[in-house]
Amino acid sequence: MDLKAPRGTRDILPVETPAWQYVEQSFSSVCDRFSFQEIRVPTFEQTELFQRGVGDTTDIVQKEMYTFEDKGGRSMTLRPEGTAGVVRAYLENGLSSEPSPQKLYYILNSFRYEKMGKGRYREFNQMGCELFGSEEPTADAEIISLLFLFFRELGLKEINLKINSIGCPKCKPAYLDQLREYLRPQIHELCENCQDRFERNPMRILDCKEDAENEIVKNAPLQLEHLCSECEEHFASLCAELDNLGFQYEIDGHIVRGLDYYSRTVFEFISNNVGTQGTICGGGRYDGLIEELGGLPTPAVGFALGVERLLMELNSQNIVLPSVKGPDIYIVSFPDTINQAAKICFELRNNKIKAENNLNARSFRAQMKYADRIQAKYLVVLGEDELKTEKVSLKRMSDGEEIELDLADLAEYIKNN
Ligand code: HAM
Repeated sequence: MDLKAPRGTRDILPVETPAWQYVEQSFSSVCDRFSFQEIRVPTFEQTELFQRGVGDTTDIVQKEMYTFEDKGGRSMTLRPEGTAGVVRAYLENGLSSEPSPQKLYYILNSFRYEKMGKGRYREFNQMGCELFGSEEPTADAEIISLLFLFFRELGLKEINLKINSIGCPKCKPAYLDQLREYLRPQIHELCENCQDRFERNPMRILDCKEDAENEIVKNAPLQLEHLCSECEEHFASLCAELDNLGFQYEIDGHIVRGLDYYSRTVFEFISNNVGTQGTICGGGRYDGLIEELGGLPTPAVGFALGVERLLMELNSQNIVLPSVKGPDIYIVSFPDTINQAAKICFELRNNKIKAENNLNARSFRAQMKYADRIQAKYLVVLGEDELKTEKVSLKRMSDGEEIELDLADLAEYIKNN
């Protein structure tokens, strides 16, 4: 077949889905304990939402969006991230008049036309949280503590939190002027990408991967050293709160994030294992976005983590994840008992037992082989005799041990063993 999945997308096959479900359920469970409620938003939105939300100067909006015209001539875009859509839904559905703070979480796929690489896809999956309506550093710390708990429950180690403050509309413009002034005479020594960013988004030069070791970038002035007193106090309180909670972190003035909406706190969880795409999770505060999208001024903070990158990290730390589990029982039957087998199978399933029977008119031997291949835990043979006496011999596949049981006790026995 010459039809292939598009570049940058991947199939998540049945051997992998148990791990995905486990990670997603673990995330939902932690979110629930922090009273974050799940929200589901559309896969595509009006293009303008992302232009205004994510920001016109970002790589995402400039180069990476899957934008198309629908049959009604409207410009639509497959979401490149979750935050903008969640803010739109929060405003459109009046969640802003619900008690504050509103705490929302999501698990969704996102689309960016990016260069392929390890841990970098064009369709990828994010799990994220958004907290609307608190400007307190304790809200930033709560978001971060949710992540620490999630990683701890998954058994992840060696994942480093880096935090920074990129200021607010009061202190940022003066800093940006200073940064441009510093960079202007030497900008031609930096990579093409940095030169491109110089006018429209000079802060991104600070986290350029290509020029990370360049002294020009290393010695650039940082926003952290030029915060207004309110931002400085906010950042100091966040650090104190993280200390109070006992979390380790590194302050890194070069963490600036790739989306326009951030103000004050930004953070990333970085691993050394996912190649150059070491950022597993990114987030921060975005106090101006809700107003930008038409709401009342409302402070907000959130994060998203990449599920593919998280799974890669769990793998490289040798953390054993759930794998495909065979049925609890396989019922071997014969042509004249197959209908009864189907009925018993249904009853077992009705009793919350994972049961399988012969759907392929297989021979006795082929059924035995199949039960073994699908790793059934138990097996019974249902012949005329078994139906007459209502007694079966239940075989444990791991060691071949058999016990005699009344057919009526089968479900109870399997449940308890
Ligand atoms: P982001 O840093 O663009 O932030 O993406 C968050 C995470 O999604 C990344 O750390 C990474 O794990 C994953 N990710 C991003 N792009 C790709 C890709 N091409 N392939 C695989 N994984 C990828 C945001 O999206 C913000 N909305 C986060 C946020 C929420 N900030 C506040 N609230």
